[in-house]
Amino acid sequence: MRVSVIGCGHLGTPHAAAMAELGHEVLGVELNPDTCKILQTGRSVFYEKDLDELLDKHVSGGRLRFTTSLHEAADWADLHFIAVGTPLRSDGRGYDVGQVIGAVRALVPLLTRPATIIGKSTVTVGTAARLQEILDEHAGSPDVHLVWNPEFLREGHAIADTLRPDRIVVGLTAPEAEQAVRDAYAPILARGDAELIVTDPATAEVLKSAANAYLSTKISYINAMAEVCEITGADVATVAYGIGIDPRIGHAGMRPGIGYGGGCLPKDVAAFTHRVGELGATGAAGLLNAVEHINNARLDAARDLVEHAHGRPLDTATVAVLGASFKAGTSDVRNSPALHLAGLLHSSAASTVIHDPESVPAARRLHPEYTYADDLDTALRDADVVVLATDWPQFTQDPALPARAATRVRRQVLVDVRTAVDTDTWTDAGWTVHQLGRPVQRATV
Ligand SMILES: NC(=O)c1ccc[n+]([C@@H]2O[C@H](COP(=O)([O-])OP(=O)(O)OC[C@H]3O[C@@H](n4cnc5c(N)ncnc54)[C@H](O)[C@@H]3O)[C@@H](O)[C@H]2O)c1
Repeated sequence: MRVSVIGCGHLGTPHAAAMAELGHEVLGVELNPDTCKILQTGRSVFYEKDLDELLDKHVSGGRLRFTTSLHEAADWADLHFIAVGTPLRSDGRGYDVGQVIGAVRALVPLLTRPATIIGKSTVTVGTAARLQEILDEHAGSPDVHLVWNPEFLREGHAIADTLRPDRIVVGLTAPEAEQAVRDAYAPILARGDAELIVTDPATAEVLKSAANAYLSTKISYINAMAEVCEITGADVATVAYGIGIDPRIGHAGMRPGIGYGGGCLPKDVAAFTHRVGELGATGAAGLLNAVEHINNARLDAARDLVEHAHGRPLDTATVAVLGASFKAGTSDVRNSPALHLAGLLHSSAASTVIHDPESVPAARRLHPEYTYADDLDTALRDADVVVLATDWPQFTQDPALPARAATRVRRQVLVDVRTAVDTDTWTDAGWTVHQLGRPVQRATV
């Protein structure tokens, strides 16, 4: 099939590469000419596991191209995926769906051949209905259909999740459009490991928001329990492990820490909270307000933990912050709790140096006022406290790191705000380890 992907950011770029991997001919449309130029060379403007390899393979093989011209896409493709951004409105009251409306409004009059528009961006419930009105009014051909196909990929696993999704949700009103979606995802559906859920557009929109809100609720729940453990002296890691054994609860998403971040969960929870409140679903709005409140409060708890671990006012501390991206596996620093925490430390510690294996350039662009180190050893030099803020395997899985880091720092104090390290490995190497909601683990040597 000939497929266009409109909007080549964190969702659209992996989607375009994955569609090419599935055997389609793909044209990515990206408005930003600088981004488009880089994509045309087979590279991404951000780090995502396996993405550059796949881009390079299919750009050089000729199956994947990029353009800034929507005209070219309209003339050429049978399917148009909409993957443009839906940032939070500046007043925080729901999404700004201007990019989605703008892209569809620009595309539809250009379509002179049968086509299916597949919306993947995360939107407020009711947006697909608004777009359908645009289609009804402006489509140049009667064979243009709209379906809503929300995306559930996890950043850091975008390629794997796009090629092997656990579900494909499709909201549609025109039954003819279902076949186009089946054709697009045919190799995945043929494997039989992804469930296809065909529903109406409103259900597809709510399903996506509800999934992200539930995930955020789970994260905030265990972080609220960490707060209870801090007060009572209990150990939240054991609590999380013990309750997660129950299959109705499960262990996934139950790691206490500085909460959720990134380009999706914070804005999706905020937008959904606002929308359900507007609709009069006061119970849901109250629950989601609490989820957001708990999430935001963890940053202050983490900052206080760093001060407590230092044992003196923070303005006497040199702090090394390991991690800036909002989670491991991506260079995305949008709404990153790691970078927010680094900001709090930057304004209260004597000195704060931030290191991340992939996201220093992006973090530097966003916060040029912070101090960064391009390598780990430089970041650790003379630190009084080391803060593990993003759970990169380089920081959490390298058994040699505790001993190596010990030779660089002034004091062996680790504050792991992701509950990610094996504490024995660090305490055996002479470190004292502090984690949110857990008793202090003291050095054993
Ligand atoms: N990031 C994720 O992992 C993820 C996962 C699931 C869903 N989503 C949703 O996908 C959507 C996109 O998110 P993102 O993180 O990729 O955003 P992003 O800001 O990284 O990318 C959006 C891109 O679209 C481009 N664009 C805007 N208008 C355009 C137009 N008319 N034509 C061509 N290009 C245009 C922008 O220049 C930008 O590069 C959002 O609704 C988001 O909530 C994202």
